[in-house]
Amino acid sequence: MKHKTIIEPFRIKSVEPISLSTEQERTEYLRKAHSNLFLLQSEQVIIDLLTDSGTSAMSSAQWAGMMIGDESYAGSKSWERMESVIQDLTGFEYILPTHQGRAAERIIYGHLGGEGKTFISNTHFDTTRANIEFSGAEAIDIPIAESQDTSLIYPFKGNMDVAKLEALILEKGSENIGAVILTVTNNSGGGQPVSMANAKAVAAICKKHKVLYFLDCCRIAENAYFIKHKEAEYTDMTYKEIAQEMFRLCDGAVMSSKKDALVNMGGFLALKDYKLTQACKSLLIITEGFVTYGGLSGRDMEAIAIGLVEIFDEHYLEYRIKSTTYLGEHLHKMGVPVIMPIGGHAVYVDAKKLYSHIPVNEYPAQALACDLYIKAGIRSVEIGTVMFGKYDKDGKLIPAPQELVRLAIPRRVYTQSHMEYVIETFEEILKEKEKAKGYKIVEEPKFLRHFTAKFEQL
Ligand code: F0G
Repeated sequence: MKHKTIIEPFRIKSVEPISLSTEQERTEYLRKAHSNLFLLQSEQVIIDLLTDSGTSAMSSAQWAGMMIGDESYAGSKSWERMESVIQDLTGFEYILPTHQGRAAERIIYGHLGGEGKTFISNTHFDTTRANIEFSGAEAIDIPIAESQDTSLIYPFKGNMDVAKLEALILEKGSENIGAVILTVTNNSGGGQPVSMANAKAVAAICKKHKVLYFLDCCRIAENAYFIKHKEAEYTDMTYKEIAQEMFRLCDGAVMSSKKDALVNMGGFLALKDYKLTQACKSLLIITEGFVTYGGLSGRDMEAIAIGLVEIFDEHYLEYRIKSTTYLGEHLHKMGVPVIMPIGGHAVYVDAKKLYSHIPVNEYPAQALACDLYIKAGIRSVEIGTVMFGKYDKDGKLIPAPQELVRLAIPRRVYTQSHMEYVIETFEEILKEKEKAKGYKIVEEPKFLRHFTAKFEQL
């Protein structure tokens, strides 16, 4: 019999209690947190969809691996295991461990960047952009045009615009390109996948113009799922083989292991070129640690080695993508405007459409994130004008292009009934949407204001 229900392909051996709260209590918690969800205590949250990063549940095999973690400063066995798993997966000879993704970004893009250099991506993740710009270089995003229409159904909305890529390389001069970075899946572009055809087209252009090509591969297993099911040529390949094929196209990869390596902390840089590796190793030792541990403990490296194998399990990946889709499709059918099609790790709600009566300078996505918290204790993240808004020279607000609320799903943590609870909350949100009120910012720092800004409801 073919079952309709896709079950969580694991049993729960250890549980973490959730503290439940009333709407009245949450109103008070949020008031004390100045209506900023980053300022809440985690125990005040019922379902935490703030991020899928570092929030995965480890398997019993990973926990067992932690006990055999080799904590030697140099030549740790756990490092050997982590290195060989990554070499096998990526095909790259040189692997540098780091404590998380942005540390690897700082090392490689800091080295390749600097004044006058340009980096090009389908969409740079915030920390990627920040590391590039901090070096003095510029970061340009060229997602395909289809990605801008949030309701358009298109299979690989994470793709890079290859015509623009070639034009930009010619305009800037290939010697001034720091690197081309393909982010899979495209987190800041709605968690949308990138096709192998696109990865190949980007590779051909980079090769032709002799520019470096890297993968930001933190969700590459999730991306492989979409390729296998949407790109005819890849139906018969395993998820791991698909990922391996994608790695073969480039010169290196940066990974935040906090996503598809199913661990709470970790990252790495994988490179093909010996000279580039030597330069990066010096930076690694100065800022992260010796080359056989980076910023990691032996037990972390052991857990990464195991997680990177588990992530390609076909039953896990099917459950993972289908459960994100389950939440997204339900919201879509109910009439909640969400980015379509549903991506791999998160559902993105379009708050500009849902709360269309709240103008962007009153932060509709912040309003929705607060309402989800008050009504149900659900913590999401605003990806809109609070996060990306800027001021012009006269202090006038320049809003972000989109007002989104991201519901990111931690891996192997929540069950279907938790998702039903989220869906039920949106039924209530839809019923009462006209009553929603905007917010104003009463205090904010100069940089990365979303983390610490204080708000008041209007
Ligand atoms: N690249 C991408 C595509 C990411 O999504 C992230 C982190 C990073 C790099 C940086 O990795 O956090 O280990 O330093 N994304 C998290 C998120 C923070 O919530 O999407 P890191």
